[in-house]
Amino acid sequence: MLSAFILMGNVLNAQVANVLKLNSPNNLMELKFYLDEQGRPRYGFKAEGLPIVKDGRLGILLKDAIGLDKDFVVDSHYTLEMDDSWTTVWGEEKQIRNHYRSLNVRLKQILGATKRTLILEFRLFDDGLGFRYIFPEDGNLGLFTVSDELTTFPLDADHDVYWIPGDYDTNEYRYSRSKLSQIHALQFSEDNNIAFKQSVHDSLVQTPLMMIAGDGYYLAIHEAALVHYPAMNLEIDRSKLELKSHLVPDVLGNKAYLQGGDKTPWRVILYAKKAKDILTNRIILNLNEPSKIADPSFIKPGKFIGVWWEMHVGKSSWNYWDKSTALSSKFWKKVNHHGANTANVIRYIDFASKHDIPYVLVEGWNEGWEDWFGAYREHIFSFSKPYPDFDINAISARAKAKNVKLIMHHETSGAVTDYERQLDTAIRFMIQYGYPGIKGGYVGKIIPRGEHHDGQWMVDHYERLASKFGLNKMTMDLHEPVRPTGLHRTYPNWWSNEAARGNEFNAWSRGNLPEHETILPFTRLLGGPMDYTPGIFQIKMNVYDSAKKEQVHTTLAKQLALYVTMYSPIQMAADLIENYEKRPDAFKFIKEVPTDWDTTVVLDAEPGDYIYMARRERNGKQWFVGAITDEQERLFEPDLSFLTPGKKYTMVVYRDGDSADWERNPMSYVIDNKTIRSTEKLKIRLAPGGGCAIQLTPAGKN
Ligand code: NOJ
Ligand code: CA
Repeated sequence: MLSAFILMGNVLNAQVANVLKLNSPNNLMELKFYLDEQGRPRYGFKAEGLPIVKDGRLGILLKDAIGLDKDFVVDSHYTLEMDDSWTTVWGEEKQIRNHYRSLNVRLKQILGATKRTLILEFRLFDDGLGFRYIFPEDGNLGLFTVSDELTTFPLDADHDVYWIPGDYDTNEYRYSRSKLSQIHALQFSEDNNIAFKQSVHDSLVQTPLMMIAGDGYYLAIHEAALVHYPAMNLEIDRSKLELKSHLVPDVLGNKAYLQGGDKTPWRVILYAKKAKDILTNRIILNLNEPSKIADPSFIKPGKFIGVWWEMHVGKSSWNYWDKSTALSSKFWKKVNHHGANTANVIRYIDFASKHDIPYVLVEGWNEGWEDWFGAYREHIFSFSKPYPDFDINAISARAKAKNVKLIMHHETSGAVTDYERQLDTAIRFMIQYGYPGIKGGYVGKIIPRGEHHDGQWMVDHYERLASKFGLNKMTMDLHEPVRPTGLHRTYPNWWSNEAARGNEFNAWSRGNLPEHETILPFTRLLGGPMDYTPGIFQIKMNVYDSAKKEQVHTTLAKQLALYVTMYSPIQMAADLIENYEKRPDAFKFIKEVPTDWDTTVVLDAEPGDYIYMARRERNGKQWFVGAITDEQERLFEPDLSFLTPGKKYTMVVYRDGDSADWERNPMSYVIDNKTIRSTEKLKIRLAPGGGCAIQLTPAGKN
């Protein structure tokens, strides 16, 4: 492994009038840093000569104290070059190269007899920039409260943007595309999920923010290593085409409570000439700290099924009691269709075992589901008391005998104080019954009241949780948390999140448009894996109830392709067992597709239109291809030159039927088998809202 830290005095190619300039390793990116007449720090970022960010502001305002925003002088600075590579515990790639040049500027601010220090650290890569504020321990800062962060991103032109409204509590929105100057978050025509409308305002959007520049480049703004700080939304100044950091506040309107020794997350700008290269940009991972899990061997990527979709489609319930029958619990009656009953759970365990699926999730196993939704109070859920018909001894014994692991479900309904109080008991309970990890959830407003899902208090909570589960050799997959920022490098046991609008919306709302899954990898997934819950074979919901009009906006073949295009090391086969049993030939792909890769090749991609991807399994020679399209029909003609030249492969293609269409004929699919070489020319029709999945196995291996 190559690892180099080189002092690079010479890459500061100009130092005119206090302007420091730094070039990327390939010299195509340029960073400029200077202090203006009032001693205010400023930066600019050019890529291939284009002014991507022009004279952005930097600085931090403090509550009841003089701001760290002006009257600075440069105390000292240095540059370094780093060229290193590291091995992922799991991921889209086994090896990741980390090659950058950095500029570290120590600023001082003289306030009477006190000299305060602020450090700005920039890392310039060949495909983007990261920078952060460091508050040194010896900087005379003491304890301080952040009231605002002044970072701005003044953009070069009125780019097209994929955006969701800024919101302190949820990211479960459809994406809109508009010019920067036309973003109006409050006009967002959402009918079912401005759940926390009070925190949305018209000029606010969330990151990752994906932009398409008119003159041929792509840009995404996000953050990396969000630790002990609130998430950053972006506020638009439409006339200046400028975005400004807007930190999620706490109940008092403060943003962050820090002290000397702390630092902010990295502010990150990803750049590419071709959209597809945004998808393999690894800056966000590189800016995160290495794994804190000394022995990660307990983290075993794989697939899971669950007592889950049946609740979302209304076939069974989470709750055990029907509370509507009486106010007093003495008179409650049992519901007829409680999903997490012993016989049903055992059916799932047996199915998983039969099909080599390592994990089974069970929701609705614990007390509290009668009045959890919108409760906004504590003492609703227990995380160690099963419902009477969930025989945990029998269930755990069956799972053990069948070599299946159960994933525990912890829905907090936002009552995080209550959850933290119960956590040690819950973990002991998980150890007792052999549960290796959880799926967590934060539906509803947060307690402590006034805190937000994306504020500093909750960011600290998620990290405490990752750390605690890690120490107990357990994994976690969170729904409704803050959107990820690459922390899965540091905590590989925090292996997935929802943190966006998942497939579940298709079961009970107007759903996600066919383009949704072509946008997510360019936005939400830039921060980390998503538990999107693919694999729905029964597309129309009227099968469950003839009055239902909902459907998944997809073809069946596209659901298979999502296992390749939408990365997560823990991936659900989300549909009901009976829907898989009816189509064993298509289910075979779900059984065989890995969730851990050696190599990823993006064949082509355009946000909002299509994604074509090939990946090679980790520690193996098979390749898998996923191709998805939006509502447009397309011809997919993959270049198979990623295969070993001259070698024969058996190819299985799972494609849309000739008349398939997400709306009119979504469940029509065809499976073709063939032997091919890397020179093979394929032409595969992707139906409107459709897709295609391919498995390629070196001939001779079965
Ligand atoms: C929302 C989650 O996204 C979903 O997966 C879960 O079933 C419900 N909350 C209940 O916890
Ligand atoms: Ca959700």
